[in-house]
Amino acid sequence: MAKVKRIRPASDKSISHRAVIFSSISKGRVKISNMLFSDDTLRTIKAMQSIGVEIEISSKHVIVNGAGKYSLKEPNNVIDMGNSGTSARLISGLLSAQNFFSVITGDESLRKRPMGRVVKPLSQMGATILARNNNLLPMAIKGTNPTTGIIYKSPVASAQVKSAILLAGLYSHDTVRIEEPYKSRDHSENMLKAFGVDVIVDKNSIELGRNRELTGDFSINVPADISSAAFFMVYAALKENSEIILSDVVLNPTRSGILRVFDMASVDYEIINERVENFEKVGDILVRHTKELSPFTIEGELIPTLIDEIPILSILAVFCDGASYIRNASELRKKESDRIAAICTNLRRVGVEVEEFEDGFAIKGDRNIKLRPAVIDTQFDHRIAMSFSILKAVSGVDINISETKSISVSYPNFLDHLSYVSL
Ligand code: S3P
Repeated sequence: MAKVKRIRPASDKSISHRAVIFSSISKGRVKISNMLFSDDTLRTIKAMQSIGVEIEISSKHVIVNGAGKYSLKEPNNVIDMGNSGTSARLISGLLSAQNFFSVITGDESLRKRPMGRVVKPLSQMGATILARNNNLLPMAIKGTNPTTGIIYKSPVASAQVKSAILLAGLYSHDTVRIEEPYKSRDHSENMLKAFGVDVIVDKNSIELGRNRELTGDFSINVPADISSAAFFMVYAALKENSEIILSDVVLNPTRSGILRVFDMASVDYEIINERVENFEKVGDILVRHTKELSPFTIEGELIPTLIDEIPILSILAVFCDGASYIRNASELRKKESDRIAAICTNLRRVGVEVEEFEDGFAIKGDRNIKLRPAVIDTQFDHRIAMSFSILKAVSGVDINISETKSISVSYPNFLDHLSYVSL
């Protein structure tokens, strides 16, 4: 029997972005431990520094010296958000509530991603926003303070849209309420509560209460990202003789849909050492190699709880005996790449039978599937690069991944962890 291996996956990207942004507008010193240092989160740190926030970075932690929500200053240059949709959309909410002018842009991929979803509600809240085609970066924002209240029925279940509205809403004296079609990740709500802000949650509706001031002077410990753990969870399920513990992983129910898929597929796993830290459920996930895997269907309200895990779950589906379906997932076409197209094209290249739909795909899986050597085009999308690296490792097939540089946006030591589990 192989030795149990333990990995502490990369820290949570969503929580890291929010820890920096919320601390920046709090009153007091906030120490962030286990911050994710990746290309995306460094963009958020730089963006906040460019609007006057004092942030100290050491190898161990980040200290944010928040001077309150009225302390931000006009940036003297365009703010480049790189590949990071979360930085662009959340910070545009904050900039919409400032009495100054700012311009944000991003890399080639981010400049193709829709911003109309934040432009619309933030404009209703009083900001003047000019975006390319009213939907794309670069985007110029002239904020207003205070912002106008809003009751917004969001057409998409998007935590980025919800968080942008909440950030702008902190500067409003009126009702600020967002209603989502399905519940998206609720890290902003949890963190605002940790900073002392009143947030009223009723099913899929989120409203800001009376207190909209953030108090600092405390510490935030960022747990590991279930979206990063997912790669090694699937590796452990598929690789003969393996048993891997993923430590300190965020188990927030709005993020842990992958566990429901593991239940459907009959993956052998256990949750151990469960606890709550800073309003977030955290625990260790032990996954064992599982010989017989059943196919699964992912749709409806499950989608937002595992949206970033669909590329790696499609690798799991390749080895589940029968047809697995992913539906209601058209949002995947608007991620760092068109992930539906990227998954289908690349799986076909290695010889998997796939049917593509507008809102998802079907994969014909087989535990004894014979894959063929191929070149995988990652489209510079980190999650496509990591997913097919896992397929290569578990199948032993000669798969050539076009690049792995993109991985640095979310999981800089992914390849080290992959070498460790492959030993
Ligand atoms: C994120 C929300 C999700 C997710 C993204 C991170 C966040 O995007 O896919 O990787 O931190 O708020 P949407 O808000 O577009 O669904």
